[in-house]
Amino acid sequence: MAKARIGLIGLGVMGANLALNIAERGFPVAVHNRTTSAIADFIGAAGDLAASLVAAETPAALAAALTPPRAIIIMVKAGGPVDATIDALKPHLDLGDILIDAGNADFNDTRRREAQLKDAGFRFIGMGVSGGEEGARHGPSIMVGGAPEAYAEIADIVEAIAAKYQDAPCAAHLGPDGAGHFVKTVHNGIEYADMQMIAEVYGLLRNADGRSPAQIAALFDEWNGGPLQSYLAEITAKVLAATDPDTGRPMVDVILDRAGQKGTGRWTVIEALKLGQSASTIEAAVGARSWSAAKDLRETGAERLTGPKTSDPGPVLLDADLERALLSARVIAYAQGFSLLAAASEDFAWDLDLARTAEIWRAGCIIRSALLDDIATAFRGELPGDSLILAPAFARLLNDNAGALRRLVARASLSGQPIPAMASALSYYDTMRHARGTAALIQAQRDFFGAHGFERVDTDGEGHHGPWGL
Ligand code: 6PG
Repeated sequence: MAKARIGLIGLGVMGANLALNIAERGFPVAVHNRTTSAIADFIGAAGDLAASLVAAETPAALAAALTPPRAIIIMVKAGGPVDATIDALKPHLDLGDILIDAGNADFNDTRRREAQLKDAGFRFIGMGVSGGEEGARHGPSIMVGGAPEAYAEIADIVEAIAAKYQDAPCAAHLGPDGAGHFVKTVHNGIEYADMQMIAEVYGLLRNADGRSPAQIAALFDEWNGGPLQSYLAEITAKVLAATDPDTGRPMVDVILDRAGQKGTGRWTVIEALKLGQSASTIEAAVGARSWSAAKDLRETGAERLTGPKTSDPGPVLLDADLERALLSARVIAYAQGFSLLAAASEDFAWDLDLARTAEIWRAGCIIRSALLDDIATAFRGELPGDSLILAPAFARLLNDNAGALRRLVARASLSGQPIPAMASALSYYDTMRHARGTAALIQAQRDFFGAHGFERVDTDGEGHHGPWGL
């Protein structure tokens, strides 16, 4: 059997497209799938690329098709199936072989697997891959975690298959063990927030202003030519312009309003809270998907709960205000995501390069947008408070545009439209504008009922108590 340069297990949509991408870049790939009939089907449909694909009916055959040190990409469902695949492969591997999990893994699992495989003499890479089916086939953004010397052995393949931004590959080794999967998870969290904010603006235009999906599509299409330029704005325009061939109705109107989620958004929020952070816009977006799933409750709520009288719908919003509001909120969502990356980097001693992370998100991934180049520049420059919102360019952007976000939040509230992510973005912004907040009262309450102690503004040290008994 001809030797391949790399192996790949899992010929689902992402795995199959990744294998074709690798083959097209000139690297022969040995492919295996648990349901073996999928292997012949896949190679049979690969056209000219079939010449660069080697069928491996078993894990043993896959190992035999590769020269040690082998590199094998695992692209199966996250969780148990990854462990099962590793267990099936292990007996056929040699020490030093490299397993690469390219799925949306929980980074805690990646850390565990990396440690276990290292103990057993193998190498493990956790590789976040973003860009959906199209990205996997023609150029995803790739976030790598693992030992640098393991990555060095596959870097040529990874860089060849990755999306390019001005000819530079959108792929990078970001840190050890779970760093790549953590960055991918936060990418998805930002993806959730961005999608939710877009949906909120859509809801406001549709329900408060009575605009049609086609009109809103045209607006997103226009915005996609300006500072909101992004893959998500682009596809929103396309989605809203689509018509259901069966009924002739706007496609968006025949889709049930109950959003799915596979876990990465939720993990972002869980990890943020574990790190003592709050990525509130992401949290709002994850929560909004959960609320969307409570369809029965909402149907009953629609009958029994009242909203505001429509006589005061709040400030009138120009289209330009909506654009500026969305831009401000998007910046805040990115800022929260990057703050979380910084906190994790510190906690796990990963030394994440945030500028490089922004750079590899400029093409290929779902959250690619015009902002990311500016974000990379901001991380390479002066960053007061280590926060993106205080980088000179973004502080200026927010100072110029947050007023529109405020008007949007006011209008949505007064017209009874839910905007959990936009509202949380504004509250984050307003919180960070206050050098002195309201937590003194929280501290006093804690001390009152639990003698937890507080710090004073006029004296050093902790453990002061209030005169509550007086
Ligand atoms: C990507 C996407 C991809 C997937 C999401 C969807 O970067 O290519 O994020 O990984 O589409 O995980 O997640 P939900 O099903 O949870 O929305």
